[in-house]
Amino acid sequence: MANPVASKIIGTGHYVPPTVVTNDDLAKRFDTSDEWIQQRTGIKERRYSKPEDTTAHMGALAARAAVEDAGLELTDIDCILLGTLSPDVTFPGSSVFVQRELGLHGIACMDIRNQCSAYLYMVATADAYVRAGLFKNVLIIGSEVHSTGIDFSDEGRDVTVLFGDGAAAAVISASDDPKVGVLQSCLHADGAGAELLWIQNPGSREFPHRAPESMYEDKSVYPGMDGRAVFKWATRKLPEVIREALDKSGYELDDIDVLVPHQANMRINQMVAKQLGFPQEKVVHNIQKYGNTTAASVGIALDEARKDGRIKEGSLVCLAAFGSGFTWGASILRF
Ligand code: COA
Repeated sequence: MANPVASKIIGTGHYVPPTVVTNDDLAKRFDTSDEWIQQRTGIKERRYSKPEDTTAHMGALAARAAVEDAGLELTDIDCILLGTLSPDVTFPGSSVFVQRELGLHGIACMDIRNQCSAYLYMVATADAYVRAGLFKNVLIIGSEVHSTGIDFSDEGRDVTVLFGDGAAAAVISASDDPKVGVLQSCLHADGAGAELLWIQNPGSREFPHRAPESMYEDKSVYPGMDGRAVFKWATRKLPEVIREALDKSGYELDDIDVLVPHQANMRINQMVAKQLGFPQEKVVHNIQKYGNTTAASVGIALDEARKDGRIKEGSLVCLAAFGSGFTWGASILRF
């Protein structure tokens, strides 16, 4: 039998933990303010997990929602890809814990280590797997628990205000209609920026012990970020990769109905739209509610835009993300 000619997102879902943490809540813990955070980033609040809401458990909840939305049974899924920078444990990857919770013993599982652009890398990987005939219904999941790994002191405030917890999932399935689904993916990375947004420890390159006792004292266990450099890279690379995806797919900017960018900073996404000359009202923003949920952010925004009717059957959608690595990418999809 011939391989499928296309792959399509046929279901989406998300889960965010119920605990809302406002900017004022953070201002009680370290020196910041609602005004500073909103002005610089657009964020008003984010969600924080309780112990039961692990990366894998939230991923499984989002996955169930996506499979139901797709009109499939869990047993139709034959592969799980999971993007996270906050795995439940160091190894194995969190995808096997999701698989176990869903009762899908035996199907393929893989963790994708691409931080904020993981969702784009998962869309491209699932699309390639499906069109190669390897799997029929791939579950992609982005899930993060940031709240247990950030620095709640004045020193960590630049990073800590940005991040929130949550999960998103989608089902990418074989299709015999070449005009729909994932039409184009463009992926890039540049390790030159690896240390500009990272968590250094624990890490196997630390000798003689990978979890040095000093790691809490020197704060190398917390995310380190050169915010200005990240901002500059993101606002340069995102328009570039969106234009590349449009060129390669043969579409024009005017053809795009909705742009779903990674939610790192509302000002980044507004600047990207301005640079492209893309209408601001066609850009999906939900960073106000969730902050940056890294591997989950594009998926949560996509699910919300589908459920509230901004993305309909036939919509041409552009997904785009930039993040740690640095890694970045864009996809063009017809729903
Ligand atoms: N609350 C209050 N003040 C803060 C603060 C906070 N949470 N974080 C930093 N500041 C202070 C700084 O200490 C600095 O004070 P100073 O002028 O007295 O030295 C001042 O605010 C300006 O800091 P700066 O880092 O220059 O701010 P900025 O305008 O670059 O904004 C970011 C900081 C983080 C919002 C911005 O750089 C950014 O969003 N970068 C991209 C980050 C990102 O997207 N990361 C994830 C990518 S996937």
